[in-house]
Amino acid sequence: MECNSMRILFIFLLSVTPLISCAAIGEEVASNENDHVPVNHHHDHGHSTPHIDHSVQAFFTPEDLKEGNVIPTMFRGRYPSSSSPRLLPREEADSIPFLHSKLPYLLHLFGFAQASARANAVEETLRQCLIDKPIQGETKTCATSLESMLDFVQQIFGSSTKFKALSTKTFAKSGTGSNIIQNYTITKEPRQVPSPKMVACHTLPYPYVVYYCHHQESESKVFKVSLRGEVNNNIVEAISVCHLDTSQWSPNHPSFQVLGLKPGSSPICHFFPADNLVWVPLFDTQDLGYKVLST
Ligand SMILES: *[C@@H]1O[C@H](CO)[C@@H](O)[C@H](O)[C@H]1NC(C)=O
Repeated sequence: MECNSMRILFIFLLSVTPLISCAAIGEEVASNENDHVPVNHHHDHGHSTPHIDHSVQAFFTPEDLKEGNVIPTMFRGRYPSSSSPRLLPREEADSIPFLHSKLPYLLHLFGFAQASARANAVEETLRQCLIDKPIQGETKTCATSLESMLDFVQQIFGSSTKFKALSTKTFAKSGTGSNIIQNYTITKEPRQVPSPKMVACHTLPYPYVVYYCHHQESESKVFKVSLRGEVNNNIVEAISVCHLDTSQWSPNHPSFQVLGLKPGSSPICHFFPADNLVWVPLFDTQDLGYKVLST
């Protein structure tokens, strides 16, 4: 149960752009304060979640998704910098071992000192990807290239289904309030995105782009939510998911404390950070979202 509860935390709270801890391969490994993300030093759990800042994740219920409602939360911008991890073509990604057993070799390859924050991030990512088991009803993969992410999504949706990616868009300029929790007002009635199935892909800290993608069998609803930040007028087009069945969640899940709920008593929703991708089947050809056409 402990393991499951931590896993659920990981899945639903993976909320912070991990631009941080790892510089791109070959770059000098200098600490970059601007890209700093708090690192959780509690490594006593088998399923600890070191790259997740629980304090910034807002939880709410579908009833809160109404025009005019206010939700305190934070949306980090997505501003690639020279130290942002690079997305590798599959051929290149596949030439680098992605194996927990190769950790010492990989640290050497990346030039990360043993036990440094970057080394710990690499180890944590490999562990989450390769050792941790999915929870009940979950299918997961870690994709080290765009191609492998698309293969996984296609496998979940079925070979004849077209699909598209959704992501949260923030329009704040760098440094202007994108790193603070502020009150966001819902400026339009949220629109539901038809999504009989969905695959969520979260970035994990690594020297190149690694997406943790997972699909859960339990029902969920996806919404597009227009928001405006009180402090800096940051306009956000957020992607939100509401998990309709929370009966399998740990009673210790922070969302229950925040909302005063119990497992299974109500759907629980959250926003996706800007660097996550949410894949849904493509129905509406008028939709201007990014489309990936399958054969
Ligand atoms: C949001 O607004 C409420 C009500 O005005 C206020 O009490 C709260 O402190 C605000 N939260 C933030 C993060 O600014």
